[in-house]
Amino acid sequence: MRPEAIQIIKDEHLAISAVLYSLRYLVREMRKGAGPNFALLRAILDYIVSYPDRWHHPKEDKYLFAAVKRRSHDADALIRRLEREHELGYPMIERLKTDLIAFQRGDAQAREAFFDAAERYAELEWEHLRTEEEVFLPIAERVLTAEDWAEIAAAFRENDNPLFGIKPRDEAEALYQRILALAPAPMGFGGAAGD
Ligand SMILES: [Fe+2]
Ligand SMILES: [Fe+2]
Repeated sequence: MRPEAIQIIKDEHLAISAVLYSLRYLVREMRKGAGPNFALLRAILDYIVSYPDRWHHPKEDKYLFAAVKRRSHDADALIRRLEREHELGYPMIERLKTDLIAFQRGDAQAREAFFDAAERYAELEWEHLRTEEEVFLPIAERVLTAEDWAEIAAAFRENDNPLFGIKPRDEAEALYQRILALAPAPMGFGGAAGD
């Protein structure tokens, strides 16, 4: 039977991917001349900070990667790469937040920098999620025991004892709802998304 933790991780990836999709969609529309929706862009960046950065990635580092390292060295190099990608993502979002503020103040250079960095971030993150699902998780499935998976699932499920003294999952859920409320209809949430 497929470990429950794998489904949780894939569901989290799906939520993250959907928000990245909306970010890329908005950048493409703005490049074509659409007016910026700063409240929505801000909500997307806040979501990335509170969900993938404070919740999803640290749980992978602390529970999933740690468990695989205990059982096998097969994925050591891959885990180093994935951990490094988590670390690289944090300052990219900080930079995007700074650029967004300058963009909102009318700085044309910051506007372009924001577009480029947002698209680069989305691509890197998608590639990261894809590598975890297609390369890393099959190795994890091979080396981890049922108890390992149960511990990992418990860690990903828990919401009362978060790592950072807040409830990132609740916060992320509220931000996700805010993104949905602010998003224009063609952004594709809950329906077929055009590219
Ligand atoms: Fe990750
Ligand atoms: Fe992940």
